[in-house]
Amino acid sequence: MLTKAAILPEIGAEWEIQEIELGDPIVGEVQVRLAASGLCHSDEHMATGASPVPFLPLLGGHEGAGVVTKVGPGVRGIEEGDHVVLAFTPACGTCRPCASGLQNLCDEGAGLMTGRSIADGSFRAKTPDGKPLLQMCLLGTFAPYVTVNQASVVKIEKDIPLEAAALLGCGVSTGWGSATAIGRTRPGDTVVVVGIGGVGINAVQGAAAAGARYVVAVDPVAFKQKKALEFGATHVFDSMADAQAALPDLTWGRLAELVVLTVGEVEGHHIQEALSLTAKGGQVVVTAVAHHATNEVNLNLFELTLLQKRVQGAIFGGVSPRTQIPSLLEQYRVGNLKLEELVTPYRLEDINQGWQDMRDGKNLRGVIRYTEADY
Ligand SMILES: NC(=O)c1ccc[n+]([C@@H]2O[C@H](COP(=O)([O-])OP(=O)(O)OC[C@H]3O[C@@H](n4cnc5c(N)ncnc54)[C@H](O)[C@@H]3O)[C@@H](O)[C@H]2O)c1
Ligand SMILES: [Zn+2]
Ligand SMILES: [Zn+2]
Repeated sequence: MLTKAAILPEIGAEWEIQEIELGDPIVGEVQVRLAASGLCHSDEHMATGASPVPFLPLLGGHEGAGVVTKVGPGVRGIEEGDHVVLAFTPACGTCRPCASGLQNLCDEGAGLMTGRSIADGSFRAKTPDGKPLLQMCLLGTFAPYVTVNQASVVKIEKDIPLEAAALLGCGVSTGWGSATAIGRTRPGDTVVVVGIGGVGINAVQGAAAAGARYVVAVDPVAFKQKKALEFGATHVFDSMADAQAALPDLTWGRLAELVVLTVGEVEGHHIQEALSLTAKGGQVVVTAVAHHATNEVNLNLFELTLLQKRVQGAIFGGVSPRTQIPSLLEQYRVGNLKLEELVTPYRLEDINQGWQDMRDGKNLRGVIRYTEADY
């Protein structure tokens, strides 16, 4: 089918709305009519070149939800009309990581940034003259329709608003999981979240829901600090240095059991700064993505060893999309998780404004809202 999409033609360029040719589902695939797609900083990393881009143009977007319109052969448990969230990490269910409960590390993730379909390695999205498009995270949700593998699809209940559910595909699941699943916040803990964007604000929510005594949000932007307090932060600071000055008094010298790094682009020096906020036996969870060529980190190894601290990477909050998405929607139902409050809506045609507002710290999560006019 012919549809339209926001395409990145080259590194450093603006996103352009162009016509694209979207293939029908082949074996193991479904087509979804999207209600919404989040603007996550990981797409920005592709646009700046911080993340490696194997080829261009890029069909962006990896945080969406919608209604299944077509089902290919060999699909199990998904029917036309089902409501689904698209997870940015596929989960095949049968590889060794999946079978070990680490579906966020599914072996199909090896092809995540190749744009090649899991089914047969072909490209499902193309320009009208037949040039392949790189489907971000095998999704490409900056288009009103997507054709994706069933491994990326999580079915949800039909009464959940799809625009709210879309955020579960990346930012909410990642942030909440960073504080709770891989971060293991326990009641009474002190948790510091550094960078209050679409991911970090959900680490704040998660830490608060897990019973942290102090949830300390660090972000230089006043709007982000205000929002963090609305989402459960107890304290806000402009910088890690300011937090470091205040934490000893606040915690009687213990410091933070958990520090979650969710800045836009993590840099080597952030790791030591975060480690200095961390309690004995505590951990730094590095959720934010660095420039792909970043290799240098200066750490005080004396402190690392003798105070038994841990530095931990995390993808999708360290948890399986197939458990995280339904369980977070239960939390949403009972009022433990705010979703609508995260959203600043944009039309697909206004996507560059959405990105600029993210860079300027004016939104928590920009969301492309699709309407009948888009389909
Ligand atoms: N590991 C994963 O699975 C995963 C998933 C999604 C996103 N990410 C990554 O998480 C990061 C955050 O994404 P996002 O969409 O929330 O980004 P965002 O741009 O919405 O938010 C980033 C926030 O960090 C703040 N910030 C920047 N530098 C800071 C500093 N030195 N100290 C404190 N705050 C600072 C900004 O003001 C902004 O509020 C990105 O690197 C993204 O690629 C990782
Ligand atoms: Zn993302
Ligand atoms: Zn798998």
